[in-house]
Amino acid sequence: MSIVERALKRLQQSGQTAAQAARPTTPTAPADRKARPAAPAVPPAAQSREVGSRRQFGDPAKTLHVDFDQLRRAGLMPPEHQQRELSHQYRTLKRPILRNAFGADGSPADTGRNSPRTLMVTSALPGEGKTFTAINLALSLALEKDHSVILVDGDAPKPHVSQAFGIGGEPGLLDLLGNADLQVESVVLPTDVRGLFLLPIGRRSEAATELLASARMRQVIEELGRLDVNGIVLLDSPPMLLTSEAQVLASLFGQVVLVVGAGSTPQQAVTDALGIIGEGPQVGLVLNQALHDNNVGGYYGYGYGDGFLDTTQTDKQ
Ligand SMILES: Nc1ncnc2c1ncn2[C@@H]1O[C@H](COP(=O)(O)OP(=O)(O)OP(=O)(O)O)[C@@H](O)[C@H]1O
Ligand SMILES: [Mg+2]
Repeated sequence: MSIVERALKRLQQSGQTAAQAARPTTPTAPADRKARPAAPAVPPAAQSREVGSRRQFGDPAKTLHVDFDQLRRAGLMPPEHQQRELSHQYRTLKRPILRNAFGADGSPADTGRNSPRTLMVTSALPGEGKTFTAINLALSLALEKDHSVILVDGDAPKPHVSQAFGIGGEPGLLDLLGNADLQVESVVLPTDVRGLFLLPIGRRSEAATELLASARMRQVIEELGRLDVNGIVLLDSPPMLLTSEAQVLASLFGQVVLVVGAGSTPQQAVTDALGIIGEGPQVGLVLNQALHDNNVGGYYGYGYGDGFLDTTQTDKQ
């Protein structure tokens, strides 16, 4: 039995089922901050607008060129000859996520608290493939004709999303958290990949941990979700078991993808992480089977456990 299957079994024995995990009924995060003062107007160029069947937002003048070669050099995308295989696996991974977010008929979900359109990618321990998963999942979601995705860098100690896209110096999440008057539209960056938007980590702050765990974070996620009712907000987070902010963050999202390093994540770590995430969000497990498995060349192998019911596993090729 695999690590994931054992973790699932334990979870099921503890009584949690997909139905129970399906929708949060009791928010566990800190209450929203009091009404904030009127924010300055967003420049018209940065406002959310309809283009074709999809919403556009962010300042078009700041449209970012996505350099796929740079992402590959950073090890955060597969080499070109393995792209097809990985794209296929991510297609499989995103289906249950989209179903959770939009239902079987694809109709827009709510924009309220813990919306299923908000998704956090995390892992129990460092280096298990969170950023790799977040970036490739975001690119796959952006291919959807009717949906957009905002990829949020939420890992202040290791802002690898921002670094990989070359936006480490841009204002972003920490600025939004530190300044309640700053509007999300003014810092979300459109990209030349249709449907893909980025929110960098932003200005470095000594108080990053406290900012990420603050009540303002909930507000920012909700505001990001409102930019496009057909959009997904996807956050690359720090690891669950080593950072206190990841534990708070998990309580703010409607869906959590827990990346498990096959053969590297101890079973106890998976179980502990699942226990911390709790019963609020819908949780999917991604089995990352190929970390540094250079003997057989690499990039493959994701399985996704949809709501703890039908765990699938893609075998190594
Ligand atoms: N499926 C995969 N195939 C090959 N290499 C991978 C895969 N997933 C991750 N890697 C590699 O493993 C390393 C760690 O991945 P990644 O940076 O995504 O992990 P992380 O969980 O975000 O780490 P951290 O906790 O340090 O932020 C990277 O060098 C990445 O290139
Ligand atoms: Mg990372």
